[in-house]
Amino acid sequence: MSNNTTYRSHTCGELRLADKGKEVTLCGWVQRSRDLGGLTFIDLRDRYGITQLTFNMDTNPDLCGEARKLGREYVVQAVGTVIERSSKNSKIPTGDIEIDVKSLKVLNESKNPPFTIEDQSDGGDDLRMRYRYLDIRRNPVRQNLQLRHRMAMLVRNYLSNLDFLEIETPMLIRSTPEGARDFVVPSRMNPGEFYALPQSPQQYKQLLMIAGMDRYFQIVRCFRDEDLRADRQPEFTQIDCEMSFATQEDVLSTFEGMARHLFREVKGIETGDFPRMTWHDAMRLYGSDKPDTRFGMAFVEITDMAQGHNFGVFDNAQLVVGFNATGCAGYTRKQLDELTDFVKRPQVGAAGLVYIKYNADGTLKSSIDKFFTPDDLKAIADRFEAKPGDLMLVLCGPAMRTRTQLSALRLEMGSRLGLRNPDVFSPLWVVDFPLLEWDDETQRYYAMHHPFTSPKPDDRHLIADRDKWGDIRADAYDMVINGVEVGGGSIRIFDRTLQKEMFTMLGFSDDDAYRQFGFLMDAFTYGAPPHAGIAFGFDRLCSLFGGADSIRDFIAFPKNNSGRDVMSGSPAPISQQQLDELAISVRNDAKN
Ligand code: AMO
Repeated sequence: MSNNTTYRSHTCGELRLADKGKEVTLCGWVQRSRDLGGLTFIDLRDRYGITQLTFNMDTNPDLCGEARKLGREYVVQAVGTVIERSSKNSKIPTGDIEIDVKSLKVLNESKNPPFTIEDQSDGGDDLRMRYRYLDIRRNPVRQNLQLRHRMAMLVRNYLSNLDFLEIETPMLIRSTPEGARDFVVPSRMNPGEFYALPQSPQQYKQLLMIAGMDRYFQIVRCFRDEDLRADRQPEFTQIDCEMSFATQEDVLSTFEGMARHLFREVKGIETGDFPRMTWHDAMRLYGSDKPDTRFGMAFVEITDMAQGHNFGVFDNAQLVVGFNATGCAGYTRKQLDELTDFVKRPQVGAAGLVYIKYNADGTLKSSIDKFFTPDDLKAIADRFEAKPGDLMLVLCGPAMRTRTQLSALRLEMGSRLGLRNPDVFSPLWVVDFPLLEWDDETQRYYAMHHPFTSPKPDDRHLIADRDKWGDIRADAYDMVINGVEVGGGSIRIFDRTLQKEMFTMLGFSDDDAYRQFGFLMDAFTYGAPPHAGIAFGFDRLCSLFGGADSIRDFIAFPKNNSGRDVMSGSPAPISQQQLDELAISVRNDAKN
């Protein structure tokens, strides 16, 4: 190992029985100390591990006395001899040896840390975030950051071997109206004008294709001012990629290759070919554009069978749809009530839940027995391919909303039944997204992916018919793993006329479009190659590989759910002088 320095000869994770007899110098933090009569033991910790230091009261009382004064998290340097331990610790790699210390130097003292620096800390989330540098000393957090580093290296090598060049793009860019909200930065030299921090390097990577760089990637910080969740941070990292002269097939195979490389190297898993599912099927079968395919429970539509039985709720619904929770017919009243409460929560928003139990004895019992004969119920059960012992859960209402609600219930059932095991990986591609998304509030279409995404050539003729805009499919794709959208991309529009048509559909006048995207539109007139790309959420990939729910665990210094860094106290007000310099006036009620 080459990480010995003037301060140390070895790290705290390095020494083994084979090193017995060596004179060594170690540096690290005092994890804990134990006084056992004549002997004092100290666990010395650094990033690489823990080594036990021993001090003998009989042979060296002064040194032993010094050791007993060391507090938790003191930084020390110890010189001594590697000896074999009499009682070995098989739990740690250095557990066969200890250091018989000859001299000890306190390099720095430490206040008592506000929480224990152990794998299971006694510190709550807030406290650990406030002292994140202490939190990172803990094994689980350190290991997450090490995994992140390893994955970044694997990605860099994989892409570099395929001729992708890592090229940096600017962080201070022009604000664009599409997508999420921008974080903006005032320009002192240009009063009243603002930069935006990039939501992604989308336009720059397309310019790099026009510039002939052929294959680009960047592990890059992106910024989005959006509501935060477990898998969303205001600043996050993308593996951002773009390729020239590439079709959808080329992009999918290149990046499926990258994901498989990561699975192989990091998890030792051979995933095989990723299945592909159209967006339409994903919505129809799972009610989600990022289905968790670790388990079944695909949706079954029963609108035709459910209507016409004088059950108003079904009769008035656009869609009646459910899934078969196999083996759950034994659910008690209480469990069914819990599920009903779950779908009625405001976050899910369903009016109620209908169940049909296919009892083990072959009888059918349902919350809608009044309206359906046993034969009716049996016919419905057959459509669900249900067997005795199964439980069918059914929702109804407007089609899209009901699918989304049922998707939430499906995930809940998956969790309850232990079918969402973080050690099982089920990747897939979701393809053929709609090009446009209608927004009722603003009464206009938005690009579902972004305004540079190409419609499917087969659907291009639909642009001529305004009523069909919602049906146009895009050459856009997402990689989904275990219900998480880990990456998304598209074939880009590279011809100026089509780009103009796209802006028209998005409600931009020529002038508006030119004002916002003129530089890109101009660039398209200088020989833009066909190109396509994708970006992966690197934090999401890491948390998935690390088996954690929150991406915060894989970010050294994350923000909390209100977008605050509780450690540094940002965001924070700035001085009047700074505001004046930036020509910004802040409303008094907005201060503090
Ligand atoms: P998109 O907006 O789909 O595509 O983003 C790509 C991936 O980035 C991750 N991601 C996030 N991760 C953490 N926190 C966030 N707030 C956040 N937002 C997005 C997701 C997502 O799949 N320029 C296009 C890509 C392209 O077309 O090449 C883009 O940014 O995992």
